[in-house]
Amino acid sequence: MPQMRGRLLVLEGIDGAGKTTQADILETRLRREGVRVLRAREPGGTRIGERVRALLLDARRVEMDARTELFLYMASRAQLVSEVLAPALARGRVVLLDRYYYSTAAYQGAAGGVGIDEALALAERIAGFPRADRVILLDLDPRTGMARVNRPMDRMEKKGIAYLARVRAGFLRIARREPRRFAVVPADRPPETVAGDVYRRVRNVL
Ligand code: TYD
Repeated sequence: MPQMRGRLLVLEGIDGAGKTTQADILETRLRREGVRVLRAREPGGTRIGERVRALLLDARRVEMDARTELFLYMASRAQLVSEVLAPALARGRVVLLDRYYYSTAAYQGAAGGVGIDEALALAERIAGFPRADRVILLDLDPRTGMARVNRPMDRMEKKGIAYLARVRAGFLRIARREPRRFAVVPADRPPETVAGDVYRRVRNVL
């Protein structure tokens, strides 16, 4: 991995927590200040990654095992890291990611039963993915989150409230273990209020 000079900012949270809205607002604010921001989403963000994403979210593929999921998310991410993330960080850019391997640790690790430690070890120690400088965890009750999803549900969203409750608990456990890297931001508030908190917690790592 080349020496990192840029900054890696990550938005995390359950489905419906408002990551995309917050990423839009944050990107606009940072750009207005003259920060050169590169935005990417997971899974996907590369040609190979988008193919893997389609496989992961296909609502018909209900038989997919949690370990298959784990490796597919990691595979999509590996491509994103090598094509986009690592080169951008090496050029000193600020990268804003909509989800990262903390999602794998919370979804497949905590909720899917693979284990949080196992998923984190795979990402950090085996794959060697760069660590985030700041992770914003948009925390929300899953019932509120699911009520916000007003389109046909994809395969992950169909797993339901109980699954998402385990995802949420997993995210909070991960955040508690790394309080300097994570900022937990309550997401059940007006988007502009949430955005104010997000901005403050990002600004001090830039
Ligand atoms: P995403 O595109 O962020 O969906 P949305 O925009 O609807 O929040 O992520 C798609 C789904 O993939 C989402 O349900 C969360 C899930 N996911 C995992 O289970 N593991 C992962 O590692 C990632 C990145 C996403």
